[in-house]
This record gives sequence, structure tokens and C-alpha cells, in this order.
Amino acid sequence: MTVNDSLDPTLPPLDVRKSSPAIALPESPDALERALSHTYVADSRTALAAWLALKLSRPLLLEGPAGVGKTDLARALAETLGRPLVRLQCYEGLDEAKALYEWDYAKQMLYTQLLRDSVSKETAGAESIVDAVERLSGAESAFFGKRFMIRRPLLQVIESSEPVVLLVDEVDRADPEFEAFLLEILAENQVTIPELGTLKAVHLPLVLLTTNATRDMTDALRRRCLHAFLDYPPPSRELTILELRIPGIARSLGEALVRFVSNVRALDLRKAPSIAETIDWARALILLGASGLDKELVAQTLGVLIKYDEDRRTIEGSLPKLLTDTPAQR
Ligand SMILES: Nc1ncnc2c1ncn2[C@@H]1O[C@H](COP(=O)(O)OP(=O)(O)OP(=O)(O)O)[C@@H](O)[C@H]1O
Ligand SMILES: [Mg+2]
Repeated sequence: MTVNDSLDPTLPPLDVRKSSPAIALPESPDALERALSHTYVADSRTALAAWLALKLSRPLLLEGPAGVGKTDLARALAETLGRPLVRLQCYEGLDEAKALYEWDYAKQMLYTQLLRDSVSKETAGAESIVDAVERLSGAESAFFGKRFMIRRPLLQVIESSEPVVLLVDEVDRADPEFEAFLLEILAENQVTIPELGTLKAVHLPLVLLTTNATRDMTDALRRRCLHAFLDYPPPSRELTILELRIPGIARSLGEALVRFVSNVRALDLRKAPSIAETIDWARALILLGASGLDKELVAQTLGVLIKYDEDRRTIEGSLPKLLTDTPAQR
């Protein structure tokens, strides 16, 4: 099911994907790493953090530069565990009405129109507006019940009849007040709705939060979460990622590429290339029929890997060295 009530037209729709039947929780971090490996290459520290988050029912805060696989880890976990993924994309100005629920005013209006005969009967003989309002007040709760709610992602998670993976993506883009609101859900797995009271999650979700650290998360949020830092991978793991994403890529091309990218990341750049860009570059090179890297080919295609002209100039200035150096395995 896709929820088409996207909050901001510039953002992708909130996504509630139905996955394959839920599978048992892998019995160890290694087992989770292996289970993930058909769709995601996790290092052992990340697999351990995700496994503990599942076992301890604690949210996991994923921090790290852009394009290192934070969002994709949530997708991969949902897929691997056979759970639906509910995604809450954060942005400045995101509030409870867009994250949790809001009243469906249009539906409430429609019902008051359809029920106007009943309303007239109820208020017949009222001596004043105050009197009429008084007579109707008993019916008020009928309009503030679950029937008249628009469910946003967090409420969908709380009410879900099966365990889900909740991805609170780019939480650093939301305002600090929103973070404070998230705490109840993260710590208690419940939400409070004034008209309905406290709703407890039917099934504990696996919650992943991602941040690019555009601002620091509050201590209160950090305290409630386990933490994992995802960094650029060493060449050996980036090669495995390339081989997973581009089946059939020639080993020699893959090796040359990850070696070069790793050397590039060691430079002082405005924006280091991410894994996503390495994959894009590999696809472009394959399209061009390349089987390895040389100075000319790199200079011609750098625009796929690098997004700023000043970075392109820095790289072009040291191309021979970047092509031949063996990066240190981090
Ligand atoms: N460990 C990995 N295994 C497999 N694919 C990966 C891995 N890490 C990254 N990728 C690939 O890189 C792409 C970018 O990853 P993703 O969008 O998850 O990055 P991100 O850290 O969420 O970036 P941003 O901070 O910009 O949102 C993914 O679509 C995926 O194909
Ligand atoms: Mg992301």
C-alpha cells in the first residue's frame, strides 16, 4: 500500500510497503549480516548494532555522511525481516499533524451536512445559540473518533497489526521541537492523542533514525537510541557493494574503481564521492565499454563522480598518483 498523502510535493510519498511474510529474527549478529547480504553489505559493527536494536527493542540512530547506505539499511532490514517499511521523511516544519494524525475536516463537514436533519431535531426548541450548542455537545465525541482521523506514518506504526520497520529519515532536518515529540514514541512505543488518550503500539516496531549531522541531535534523543556511525567503506567492502549492485561487473574494473575512489576520498574535497556515486560511475564506465581506468577516461567521466568544479580541478591535478596509489585499508 502506498500512502499518497505526501506532505510536501517535493518529497517522495510516504511509503508503506507490504513485504514478504515475516521471518524469525536471526539468532546472532553474524546471522543477520549473512541474511542481509543478498541485498545489503553490512560491516560487522553495523550488523551488530541492528541486531541489538531488534533484540533490545531500542531505536537505532544511524549517523554518517551522505550516500553511505543509511536509508538503504532500513530498506534492507525490512526486506530481510519480511516486515513492511514505514518511512517518515523529515523536513523543516514537520509537525505532529503530518507525522502522527490530523482530523479529517472535509469528512467531518460532509457528515454534518448529511446529518443536518438529526442536528435540527436535536436543537429544535433551543432558546439561544448557547442552548443549541449545549444540546449538541454530547455528540461532539462522535466527530473526534478514529473514523475521522487521517493516519500519518507514526500512527500507522502504532496501530499496525504486524511488526514494522519505521524509518525516521533525515531527522536532523526536522526542528528540535519535533525531536522532543518523537521521544514518547521512541521511549515508550506509544502516543498520546488528547481526544483518544494513550495508544500503545500493538507490535514493537524496529525504529531507525538517520542523520547527516546538519545539526546535532539532542542528548535526550541520543540517550534513547543505540548509535551506529556509517562511514565510507574500505575498498574491499565497496567492491562487494559494487558487485551486489552491478552483477557481472568485471573484477578488474571494480578493483580499479574502488581503489581510485578511496584515494579521491583522502583528498581535501568540498564533497567526497559517496557509494551511490561510485555505483553511478561504474554504470557509466560499463556503458562506455571500459575495462579499466586511464587518465583520459577518468578526466572525461569525472562529472559522474564529482559534483563541484573545484573538486574536479583538485583531482585532475593529481590524477597519475590517484590512479597508481594503493589506498590504506581503513
Ligand atoms: N552497504 C551497502 N550495501 C549495498 N548498497 C549500498 C550500501 N551502502 C550504500 N549502498 C548503495 O548506495 C545508495 C545510497 O545509499 P543511501 O541512499 O542509503 O545513503 P544515505 O546514507 O541514506 O544518504 P543520504 O544521507 O544522502 O540520504 C543506495 O541506493 C545503495 O544502492
Ligand atoms: Mg538517506
